[in-house]
Amino acid sequence: MAIKTATLNGVATIEIARPDKKNALTMAMYQAMADAIDAAVADPAVRALLITGQPGIFTSGNDIEDFVQRPPGGGSDGTTSPVAQFMRAMLACDKPVVAAVTGAAIGIGTTMLLHCDLVYVSDEARLAMPFVGLGLVPEFGSSLLLPQRIGQARAAEKLLLGDPFTGADAVEMGIANAVLPAGEVVNHARRVAERFNQLPPGAVREAKRLLRGPQAEAVQKAIRHEGELFAARLRSPEAQEAFQAFFQKRKPDFSKFA
Ligand code: COA
Repeated sequence: MAIKTATLNGVATIEIARPDKKNALTMAMYQAMADAIDAAVADPAVRALLITGQPGIFTSGNDIEDFVQRPPGGGSDGTTSPVAQFMRAMLACDKPVVAAVTGAAIGIGTTMLLHCDLVYVSDEARLAMPFVGLGLVPEFGSSLLLPQRIGQARAAEKLLLGDPFTGADAVEMGIANAVLPAGEVVNHARRVAERFNQLPPGAVREAKRLLRGPQAEAVQKAIRHEGELFAARLRSPEAQEAFQAFFQKRKPDFSKFA
């Protein structure tokens, strides 16, 4: 099973576990994560969620083969596809979500951190949002949230150029809380998540809502708009060239595009 779930000591853990493909996320995995988040929200024994990956890799982002074979569409598919279900579940989650970024976090691997409440990053982690280089556009609210969080200039580096950055950079820019040695990041994040067992759950829920609330509607709107563009871009010749180049393990050639 590429998504492992377990609930222990009030913490529902969602572990991305597809190491042979660098934890690339398939449609089935998005759906499993959406279901796990919904189940954790409904379970009164759960006080917090923990999202984690494998040693050296958090996730390499969306499975690029799925992008080619099973691209999520816009329109009604924009709200029912597994990836849309995952985003909906993350946004609707009223319990704290803690991330343990165990290694590389690419694409949605970095984008989802903008929707987590507390983020701990391995000192070996590299983060990147290489959407434009794949012929795509930013997704999951990142075109709104990233400039707000780190400023327009740095957001342009990350979203237009796709520049990768370290865990220390993520802390300095306000995307993550702390960098931990690779062997300690999961346990540290788990201990933080377990602290919610000592806090009153109603107050935690309301406080989370207040922290996210003022722009919840704007985030939803950005996600819808990005989703429409993203679905169209997936079918573009530029994206097709980028995907073929990935499979052929070569650099993409965008010289023929105007
Ligand atoms: N989708 C599908 N397959 C992926 C994948 C993805 N996002 N990321 C990695 N894989 C596969 C590779 O094709 C390779 O498969 P193979 O063994 O059958 O050839 C396997 O996982 C190992 O990947 P590899 O690239 O050899 O590992 P690496 O350690 O050299 O590099 C990454 C790791 C994460 C830096 C690199 O795999 C990468 O850049 N992946 C794509 C990231 C990306 O662009 N994601 C989409 C964002 S929108």
